[in-house]
Amino acid sequence: MTTPRLRPLIAGNWKMNGSRALTTDLIRGLAGLRAARPDLAVDLLVCPPAPYLTLAGELLRGSGIALGAQDCHVKASGAHTGDVAAAMLVDCGCQAVILGHSERRADHGETSALVAAKARAALDAGLTAIVCVGETEAERDGGATLEVVSAQLEGSIPADAEAGHLVVAYEPVWAIGTGKTPTPDDVAAVHAHIRGLLKAWFKDGAEMRVLYGGSVKAANAAVLMHVPEVNGALVGGASLKAEDFWGIAQGAV
Ligand code: PGA
Repeated sequence: MTTPRLRPLIAGNWKMNGSRALTTDLIRGLAGLRAARPDLAVDLLVCPPAPYLTLAGELLRGSGIALGAQDCHVKASGAHTGDVAAAMLVDCGCQAVILGHSERRADHGETSALVAAKARAALDAGLTAIVCVGETEAERDGGATLEVVSAQLEGSIPADAEAGHLVVAYEPVWAIGTGKTPTPDDVAAVHAHIRGLLKAWFKDGAEMRVLYGGSVKAANAAVLMHVPEVNGALVGGASLKAEDFWGIAQGAV
């Protein structure tokens, strides 16, 4: 029995890029493209840097495009200089937050246990947690991809997560920002494995969206987005131009 295809989510991770001007232009551009094709059966999410969230939230109002952040703190408030609480993201108009991106795992030493605590805080605030996992090139070459992904997933997702508020993003570290992508067969193998784990752990594990991320662009989106068990994309570089991001959304349907 084949399960019905989940509605794809195309999420743009702007990383540490942008300005007030870029935020304004990019969101106006995207909202215009979306308004011309409200029937396109995809969900769109943009995740600008924290200083632009409020502006982005105002520009996105009524567009049908959701807003997300790139990180949050585990605590609700307090003496944590430089950090941002999940409830603050909600206050700025966010519906989602990316957690455990490989750049944060690498640059800030984030462990899966910390990612799980952040996901807990995000869920408690009413956000959707987009939990990222993925192997390095050395782990892949050593044949450890499934083992690494399993351990990261098991350690990073709260035990009571539900499909409505939990998204997994599989992002091979070696494919991020490099222009390299795994073969569709390789993506299929990892996504099938992730789906198996989610179904074993959660009663609605079949409905949790599992995104692929790493050098997704309009030119490869149609192939990657139609790999079985791929339910959308987490897009970095190609999310910074409205036409490129929209091209990926079109490829996903
Ligand atoms: P990329 O980044 O699309 O630029 O490879 C993806 C990501 O890091 O989320």
